[in-house]
Amino acid sequence: MTLRVAVIGAAGYVGGELLRLLLAHPEVGEVVATSRSQAGVPLGDVHPALAPLTDARFAGLTPGEASAGADVVFLALEHGESSKVADEVFTAGPGLVIDLAADFRVSDLALYSRFYGQHPSPHLVPRFTYALADVLGHELKGKTALAAPGCFATAAQLALYPLARLGLTDTPALFGITGSSGSGVHPKPTTHHPARAHNLFAYSVLGHRHEAEILQRWREWSGDAGAHARLLAHSGPFVRGIYLTLHVMLPGGGTPVDVPGAFAKAYADRPFVRLTKAAPELTHAVGTNYALIHATQTPDGREAQVMVAVDNLVKGAGGQAVQAMNLSLGLPEEAGLKGGGIFPC
Ligand SMILES: NC(=O)c1ccc[n+]([C@@H]2O[C@H](COP(=O)([O-])OP(=O)(O)OC[C@H]3O[C@@H](n4cnc5c(N)ncnc54)[C@H](OP(=O)(O)O)[C@@H]3O)[C@@H](O)[C@H]2O)c1
Repeated sequence: MTLRVAVIGAAGYVGGELLRLLLAHPEVGEVVATSRSQAGVPLGDVHPALAPLTDARFAGLTPGEASAGADVVFLALEHGESSKVADEVFTAGPGLVIDLAADFRVSDLALYSRFYGQHPSPHLVPRFTYALADVLGHELKGKTALAAPGCFATAAQLALYPLARLGLTDTPALFGITGSSGSGVHPKPTTHHPARAHNLFAYSVLGHRHEAEILQRWREWSGDAGAHARLLAHSGPFVRGIYLTLHVMLPGGGTPVDVPGAFAKAYADRPFVRLTKAAPELTHAVGTNYALIHATQTPDGREAQVMVAVDNLVKGAGGQAVQAMNLSLGLPEEAGLKGGGIFPC
């Protein structure tokens, strides 16, 4: 298979990561990278790490023009922009559309509006499948429109999924810290270097937007429409990665639940989830599509703690989206994604 792929919004951080992975993907023959502000500029001028790999330039095509004749279209646009361009992308008739923004991640529109306001294109939402690749795996085969999960949401859901069948009665707390690349390429008062380096702070307190998709899955998996989970989001003094720790009290009485066993079972044959013997370190996941997870419980079986380390731009964005593309098209799941990270970094 030689795929023609378009990346819309390729000048951003997620777009750059998609280009890095797609340029090295064995089944991808052509990559069209679009940008409004960088049309005509070499990809390597905007994403310097790509300079040795390609002399290609950004195209100033509209999303519809870039999607015509494409097998796969990735939308790597700011929140809300995908809704504006999705109709013209679908009209162009690509085989598969993968959106990396939050526009189509939450199918419960009431839940969506609580966190994002009224949905601008509700008619398009049912078309998309939420593509948590490490959980859904081959269930993604043949899907034609995928919503890639958010970065915090990916880490949180990989921690929650194996716990859903353990009959928890407590509300899990998900304490996460993200690096500055999670905020995109344009500097903001809380993301530029002087505000971010050597600093640490909570944000979106009692209502981070990724809670919408986390809650939707958690309720679906646990079978409890009223189930809750709380994301405690923090900004950290590093560029890449998300480190998330889940803590929850386990049900008392009877036989204690087996938390490590539940994780081993849930991820037994999932190639990009690695269960570690001790708490993972962030830099061991950076640059890779792997989620490093350590799940443990107290000796009395009353308390569980789960640590997850992922790269926000790979596992939390471009890597997971390419994994979802592989699964949807029936390609080997690991194609183009097996690279290790760099350490120290
Ligand atoms: N950063 C992360 O860790 C992360 C993780 C998971 C998901 N996401 C999501 O992925 C999306 C992209 O994130 P990001 O961090 O890469 O944002 P970003 O760095 O701000 O990049 C978005 C890019 O979209 C481009 N763009 C907007 N409209 C366009 C259009 N009509 N045609 C072509 N290009 C267009 C912009 O470039 P031009 O102005 O040049 O067009 C901009 O560079 C967001 O929705 C974000 O929430 C981000």
